[in-house]
Amino acid sequence: MERPSVRSYSIRGSRITDAQRAAKDAMQALYGIAVEPKKLNMKEIFPTSEKIIMEIGFGMGEATAIIAKNHPNNGYIAVDVHPPGIGKLLARIVEDDLKNLRVIEDDVHVVLPYMFEDESLDGIHLYFPDPWPKKKHNKRRIVNEGFLSLIHAKLKKDGFIHIATDWVPYANFIQEVFAPSELFTGGVIAKPDSRPVTRFEGQGIDKDHQVTDLMYFRK
Ligand SMILES: C[S@@+](CC[C@H](N)C(=O)[O-])C[C@H]1O[C@@H](n2cnc3c(N)ncnc32)[C@H](O)[C@@H]1O
Repeated sequence: MERPSVRSYSIRGSRITDAQRAAKDAMQALYGIAVEPKKLNMKEIFPTSEKIIMEIGFGMGEATAIIAKNHPNNGYIAVDVHPPGIGKLLARIVEDDLKNLRVIEDDVHVVLPYMFEDESLDGIHLYFPDPWPKKKHNKRRIVNEGFLSLIHAKLKKDGFIHIATDWVPYANFIQEVFAPSELFTGGVIAKPDSRPVTRFEGQGIDKDHQVTDLMYFRK
């Protein structure tokens, strides 16, 4: 499976103890989806779900678990690369007995092309993606032209991507990437009640740290 040469995430504090690793492996066997170059069958994973939503970069998964609990009729697939967060969200699935949430541990640039059929997702959540504020790191931002093509292929017609960021320059950048695109239509929205407040929100101390919600629909 081909991997991107530029990473949109940083490897940070990924160490977990042997006991945590063993617990994570056991839960992952039940509630994780193994990464392999084979397309997933959504009807097998979520036989009764009305909509299939992917969350990209769930961090510690606080919002993910709340959303899945609040919308039992939808199926959620949460993707991240961060082992402690994977372990944490798997534990939440067990604690809350969530039947409609599965976790994939890998880069979404590998997961989407190799494991998802075209037009298989009703929506994508991208909450507080790494902002990569330094100019020399801007190329690591996950939202770019290539990302739009990738998610366009995997979303159903009229499917959505809901993005939230607490970095105003990134919110502006996102709008600049989407504006010329023939693939999507949309823009800034008021924060929907469906998005739970995470620890990122409310931390804003200056004008660059206001939270912006953006919603784009696949044409
Ligand atoms: C700033 S954190 C936000 C976490 C969470 N959404 C929240 O609001 O608390 C961004 C997350 O995106 C993940 N991430 C970044 N690029 C990714 C990629 N290409 N594939 C999967 N996850 C990615 C990172 O590992 C990190 O956990």
